[in-house]
Amino acid sequence: RQRLLEGCVRVPLVPGHYEPNIVFYRYGGYVFPEQIVLSGVLQELPNFQARETDVIVASFPKTGTTWVQEIVYMLTHDCRSSTDDDATLETRFPYLEYPYPGLKTVAATPGPRCIKTHLPYHLLPPSVTTAGAKVVYVTRNPRDTVVSYYHFARLLTSAGFIGTLDDFIDDFLDEKVPYSPFLSHVREYRAAAAAASHDSLLCVSYEQLTADPKGVVRAIAKHLNVAVSEEDVQFVVDHTSFSAMSNNKSVNYEHWKDIGFAHKDRGNFLRKGKIGDWETSLNVEQKARFASWEARNLRPDDAPFVYDV
Ligand code: A3P
Repeated sequence: RQRLLEGCVRVPLVPGHYEPNIVFYRYGGYVFPEQIVLSGVLQELPNFQARETDVIVASFPKTGTTWVQEIVYMLTHDCRSSTDDDATLETRFPYLEYPYPGLKTVAATPGPRCIKTHLPYHLLPPSVTTAGAKVVYVTRNPRDTVVSYYHFARLLTSAGFIGTLDDFIDDFLDEKVPYSPFLSHVREYRAAAAAASHDSLLCVSYEQLTADPKGVVRAIAKHLNVAVSEEDVQFVVDHTSFSAMSNNKSVNYEHWKDIGFAHKDRGNFLRKGKIGDWETSLNVEQKARFASWEARNLRPDDAPFVYDV
């Protein structure tokens, strides 16, 4: 076990929300699961060497990361379909700060590398900016995000969440779920994208992807300097539809159920794939709690949020 990183503070979890063995820490203003903190990766990240040819998909969890990852993977690999690909998405597109496969493996991966991260912008390795790696940030309406996150926290065995949706909403709004606070996460990337010097960062939203998948695929291709025909765009959109991805074992994470990462009887990673699921999932009181949270926390310069398309 590594010595705890300076500045890490244990997050007080509410009894009954998580299994007793679950521990989260706050570092740099954001919540991280214990396994990430104790792996030592946060200490090593500043020295990670990003490359100009890297493409990084960054997000707050449950905002459409997997969807954008598959689009990016196809665009950077001749728009090839991964339907018959034995390699799962987590192998093709490693998770930067997660202990597996780990930073050393990512560092040794030949380019062009596709890397996923949920890190807030200020904790990205500085070389991401200096090397000019391309970053695509995805965000989503926080109400749909919280509903999706709740189902994920119940699906994933290591998440250890045992509470109700109501408990999860409390934890999300109290900034106690991994990678929260949500608003700061989005703000950091939006501010970086708005900075004139930062044309290597593109922000897209789940809502834009749903409304205009071809337009977003074209925008990502342009951002990555990948020339695509209309046929390519259509192929990528078809291959990354919710139904296509749900039936594609390379991206649907169904194998997690066989290796004990996911409960077998708590739904699927690709769950509903809709915008506005919160409308029917949240009760009147929960909707009011969200509205009051927004009224208290949204700043004038947040408007219009990218999820308000
Ligand atoms: P739901 O739980 O609302 O269905 P992430 O990849 O960031 O973990 O986000 C997962 C969410 O994105 C899930 O939302 C999942 O169903 C949705 N998703 C993944 N691929 C999708 C696709 N091709 N089309 C629409 N939604 C997709």
